[in-house]
Amino acid sequence: MTEAETADETKATEAKALNTRIALYDPTTDSLEEITDLLHQAYASLAARGFNYVAATQTTEVTKSRLTAGKGYIARLTGEAKIIGTVTYYTTARVAPDEPEYYKKSAVGHFGQFAVHHGMQKLGIGSRLVEFVESLARAEGKEEMACDTAEGATDLIEYYTRRGYRLIEYHQWDKACYRSVILSRRLVG
Ligand SMILES: CC(C)(COP(=O)(O)OP(=O)(O)OC[C@H]1O[C@@H](n2cnc3c(N)ncnc32)[C@H](O)[C@@H]1OP(=O)(O)O)[C@@H](O)C(=O)NCCC(=O)NCCS
Repeated sequence: MTEAETADETKATEAKALNTRIALYDPTTDSLEEITDLLHQAYASLAARGFNYVAATQTTEVTKSRLTAGKGYIARLTGEAKIIGTVTYYTTARVAPDEPEYYKKSAVGHFGQFAVHHGMQKLGIGSRLVEFVESLARAEGKEEMACDTAEGATDLIEYYTRRGYRLIEYHQWDKACYRSVILSRRLVG
């Protein structure tokens, strides 16, 4: 590929990411099957590495319950019907016995069920989704935004670290075969 072609491809990539439209999950237009398939495919490589993330195999009912336990968002390219990403923002911890203590703090928001379509990764869409939920939390007066991932998923920990997240504590989800890290970044000051 020539230098000019590389530059063109980079521009096209950036344009795609910039044209991402993020909207609140709408049960009348957003297919739970499509969102669940996207999650299964996006998390497949993590599952292949031995991390039994719920999102790699969950049913459409679980997708729905996670989307609606917080504010679930769906990303598409402007003018296109295909779903290319999803993230759910939670104002507070969900009602489950194994929720991390850190998620119960009123000054802390967190996000989860975060994925970009496996064919659309590394275009900046995930960054847009993270920045989007951070802006929601900031607007709500949260001081911190948190998330969690497997302790052994060092690539993901680096991804979040590059975005200002730091280690808060370790956590064991009941059904996970791995220990998780709770990560958080300051939204104010
Ligand atoms: C994690 C995940 C959501 C990130 O989404 P993404 O859209 O691939 O993320 P981004 O494109 O914003 O960033 C990924 C990397 O792509 C590259 N990238 C971003 N924008 C780019 C662009 N315009 N051109 C070229 N490369 C780019 C960068 O190297 C970036 O890493 P860095 O900014 O940290 O150096 C996605 O990879 C995914 O769905 N993974 C599987 C599910 C998962 O791991 N979910 C999170 C569990 S905790």
